Amino acid sequence: MSAPAISFQSVSKVYSGSRGTLRALHQVSLDIAPGEFFGLLGPNGAGKTTLISILAGLSRATSGHVKVMGHDVVADYQTARKLLGVVPQELVFDPFFTVRESLRIQSGYFGIKGNDAWIDELLSELGLTDKAGANMRQLSGGMKRRVLVAQALVHKPPVIVLDEPTAGVDVELRQTLWRFVARLNREGHAVLLTTHYLEEAEALCSRIAMLKQGELIALAPTSELLAAASSNVMRFKTDDTVPEAIAKGARITGRIVQLPAHDAHAVERHLVALREAGVRVSDVEIRKADLEDVFLDVMASRTSAEVTNPAAGPPQGGGAPGPNMAPTVAGGSEDATRTSVGAAT
Ligand SMILES: Nc1ncnc2c1ncn2[C@@H]1O[C@H](COP(=O)(O)OP(=O)(O)O)[C@@H](O)[C@H]1O
Ligand SMILES: [Mg+2]
Repeated sequence: MSAPAISFQSVSKVYSGSRGTLRALHQVSLDIAPGEFFGLLGPNGAGKTTLISILAGLSRATSGHVKVMGHDVVADYQTARKLLGVVPQELVFDPFFTVRESLRIQSGYFGIKGNDAWIDELLSELGLTDKAGANMRQLSGGMKRRVLVAQALVHKPPVIVLDEPTAGVDVELRQTLWRFVARLNREGHAVLLTTHYLEEAEALCSRIAMLKQGELIALAPTSELLAAASSNVMRFKTDDTVPEAIAKGARITGRIVQLPAHDAHAVERHLVALREAGVRVSDVEIRKADLEDVFLDVMASRTSAEVTNPAAGPPQGGGAPGPNMAPTVAGGSEDATRTSVGAAT
């Protein structure tokens, strides 16, 4: 049996600062198989970038181990790094080189000479061909993002890591990127993706992990996560204010209100309650729960009190310095909290 593409083994990360310690990751364990398309989800500050920085060797885990195809990212850094292509969340680039030069330099860094055929293919696949001679500083944010993707792929790494590659980029780049990454995945490359676009994760990833305040709170095939939700959602538009009793279970985006509605009775109850509250609704639709519904559900139901060892300190209250400020726990035994969504319902 071949080694996992990526193996995170009880990875913890504590940042120490003047205001105390910040537990960015706590005992995260998961394996990603070769050729898998894996999604890592979680709200801002959940620890996704920290986990990827540790994987890429840019940051050291406080405890635990990370391996890329069996190679430890610390003990066997060179090999692990060559097997990885990482597209960072932050736009980092050297403004003095052209697009083609920066890709050649990156190839050289991996010891690859005469890489122009693949570089041309990358430029073409990512819609950069006519920008090959442009200086990096002349490019728009979206174009720089494409170059970052190309840079990560110059050495055809078997394991591709994308940290929010589509945050704030236009629809065209998203489509270009997904077409190309899906092709690489079909050709056998493993992909680890973090994204805020749950629709993308639902469409692309065969398995999904969810992080909350540094802890793994869900890990399951996408289809299982969706099946576990097994609920419907009633969606409508309104210009009126939705009363608190109804709003607290709802997802509200401007005029659009979405309420969990398991069956026809639930829909009826919602409509009665809305009519009694004088809320006029239009464009009522019933749809199947999607990954965003599951995500919100999981995030709401797994509180930090449930996932934090009581020995770790008092529950985080209003006076806490930050959402994941908590005293450090040495070797806690909190593994029981790591369950799939399916098992929790
Ligand atoms: N270099 C750092 N020093 C101190 N705290 C950090 C550092 N990097 C990240 N953090 C903190 O760690 C937590 C996780 O951050 P991050 O991994 O960037 O989350 P995500 O990528 O999921 O948004 C956040 O609370 C963040 O403020
Ligand atoms: Mg991040």
